[in-house]
Amino acid sequence: MEGLFICKDDKYIDQVKGTSILSLLARKDDFEIMLYEFKAERPNSITPGNNADLMEFYYILEGEIIINDDDKSVKMKKGDYFYVNNIKETVSFRTLADTKMLYVTSQPVYSLLYTYTDELRNLLDKSEQKDVYTYNHGNRVQDYSVKISSKLGLSGDINYNIALASLFHDVGKCFIPDEILNKTSSLSDEEFNYIKKHSTYSSEILQGKFVDDIAMIVEQHHERLNGSGYPKGLKGDETRIEAKIIAVADSYDAMTSNRAYRNASTPESAMEELKRHIGTLYDEKIVLALEISLIEEGILAKNN
Ligand SMILES: [Fe+2]
Ligand SMILES: [Fe+2]
Repeated sequence: MEGLFICKDDKYIDQVKGTSILSLLARKDDFEIMLYEFKAERPNSITPGNNADLMEFYYILEGEIIINDDDKSVKMKKGDYFYVNNIKETVSFRTLADTKMLYVTSQPVYSLLYTYTDELRNLLDKSEQKDVYTYNHGNRVQDYSVKISSKLGLSGDINYNIALASLFHDVGKCFIPDEILNKTSSLSDEEFNYIKKHSTYSSEILQGKFVDDIAMIVEQHHERLNGSGYPKGLKGDETRIEAKIIAVADSYDAMTSNRAYRNASTPESAMEELKRHIGTLYDEKIVLALEISLIEEGILAKNN
């Protein structure tokens, strides 16, 4: 019948598969209707954009998520929905189980998400296969970075940069040989110099795929306030705020994760270590913003 569209058996206009699957089901004028499928335990974030008219609507068809609303975490299940319009801060959520969501937007976003993510999601998948630690680490660093940035009340553009740069900050480790990356004994200077190239590699991979800012931020994630970092030995405000935030989130996650060559530190001793290096390696307000967010989540005790 004219005007009727029946779509059966997983028929869709287009689909992009990566760490999540996004299928474009229908579009008319500016409206797009999509199906978003996520595996369990995946963090995700919706970042403020430049388009105040864009409404994004998510209806949970299957599964369960936890969404962060200011300082509260809200669990949502099948039949629940949320939508965002003109948000000023990044909204983050995490899937608890394999989750399917109907995703409807009032402006076209599919092609944007597609170009941003298709190649990059493949890259993330590749880094997951190569090194599960780096992959999970990227997700956790994104989670911490987004929380720090929202605690600091930073602008929409900065939030957007942080959400993307933090997720991809270590993808350049794909190019570091496994025997160096997974070495359990101490590294020679030469090996360490090799590992140090990963921030430049990450930045080169990302060049031209997002706004160039993202590549620059990623390149700076191992720079330190006093100039002792790498690759350029930048000092103080020569490093972007986004990179300074990722540096703190990255160091905290590295310390609190088990690695082949050492056991994880507790959140308390990792925070002590970060605080010991305030002003030399790390920016004070960023470390304190992370501390507040960990206290609010019950990960750190109050008055630590
Ligand atoms: Fe790194
Ligand atoms: Fe890292």
